[in-house]
Amino acid sequence: MIDPKTRVALVGATGLVGREMLDGLADLCVAPGQLSLFASPRSEGEVADYRGEELEVEKVSARSFAGVGLVLLAVPADAARELAPVAQAAGAWVVDVSPAFRRAGGVPLVLPAVNAARLDAPFTGRIVACPGAATAALVTALEPWRARFGLDEVSLTALWGASGRGKRGVAELEQQTASLLSGREPEPGHFPHRLAFNLVPQVGELEGEWTEEENSWRAEAGRLWGATAAPELSGTAVQVPTFFGCCLAVSAKLSRPATQEALQEALRTAPGVKLLDSPAEKIYPMPMLCTADPNVHVGRVRLSPGKADRASMFIAVDNAGRGASLNALDIAGRLARPGG
Ligand SMILES: NC(=O)c1ccc[n+]([C@@H]2O[C@H](COP(=O)([O-])OP(=O)(O)OC[C@H]3O[C@@H](n4cnc5c(N)ncnc54)[C@H](OP(=O)(O)O)[C@@H]3O)[C@@H](O)[C@H]2O)c1
Repeated sequence: MIDPKTRVALVGATGLVGREMLDGLADLCVAPGQLSLFASPRSEGEVADYRGEELEVEKVSARSFAGVGLVLLAVPADAARELAPVAQAAGAWVVDVSPAFRRAGGVPLVLPAVNAARLDAPFTGRIVACPGAATAALVTALEPWRARFGLDEVSLTALWGASGRGKRGVAELEQQTASLLSGREPEPGHFPHRLAFNLVPQVGELEGEWTEEENSWRAEAGRLWGATAAPELSGTAVQVPTFFGCCLAVSAKLSRPATQEALQEALRTAPGVKLLDSPAEKIYPMPMLCTADPNVHVGRVRLSPGKADRASMFIAVDNAGRGASLNALDIAGRLARPGG
């Protein structure tokens, strides 16, 4: 719950993550009169339904945060870099889901299921960053194995649906699919190549040999677990022609041997994790099952033949929901709790 006296601003309310947050704010009991919605000038005047009332979306400006106690930023990183310091200077708590501050030393990076205590330790400023959706799912699913068996090394392939690029990514995949089915070759826009009926092994800009997305897993997992506790981590991010959901095929070298049953049991009892693991009955994680589910889905848990310290699993997460908005709202509820 958020303190009823706190005024809340949601910036990016017309985006994929912003719309998920709007639904979630109702669960945190934020009254319509205490909530202001903002986006870019493109969306000025749009109307969103919230708890039975119509709220108008305003164009965000430097004056938008006067009297606001909590600002949720669900905007691209460049906009977040501009807006977060303004909101902070106005005295608001700022929770940012963009990559803007994920690697910024002075800004806490928080995944409540793993390091919520970071919010209780003193920090300068009022900005809190959330990890990317793939890192959040990966760390949530691996934490039970790390705690029981230790993790030396992790390698993964991340399969990102078009929604990872926001509402314009979804629209582009729709248009490309329709064009190809009508015999027309579409132009790529938000993706490096045509995505429809294709796979693109590049998510985000290249930073040397690795992409921004691939580097982010290492950097963010290191900040969430702490540099000494974090395993070696590397992998490839692939853009895939599905609309929603992000899936991760993960292999881990454990510090101590395990059995398949013990690996499954650790996941079955972990908070925020749903084990779907009966392959013989065709039960395993898939994007079509995780949409709108607040849990990280895990399955296909197995050991490499003859190796009790090599474990694999498959993960699926609702990237805009569990992967972004729910973590941000959990943080917001802790920062702006009644009497906090
Ligand atoms: N999609 C995911 O799976 C996911 C997961 C984790 C984190 N994130 C991060 O969450 C953020 C939002 O992603 P999204 O997928 O929701 O993107 P999106 O669907 O493209 O929505 C972006 C939102 O930001 C607004 N916006 C853009 N530029 C702005 C500006 N200069 N000033 C104010 N508002 C601006 C847009 O307004 P208009 O509608 O007016 O353009 C829209 O409301 C990004 O930083 C992304 O990296 C996304």
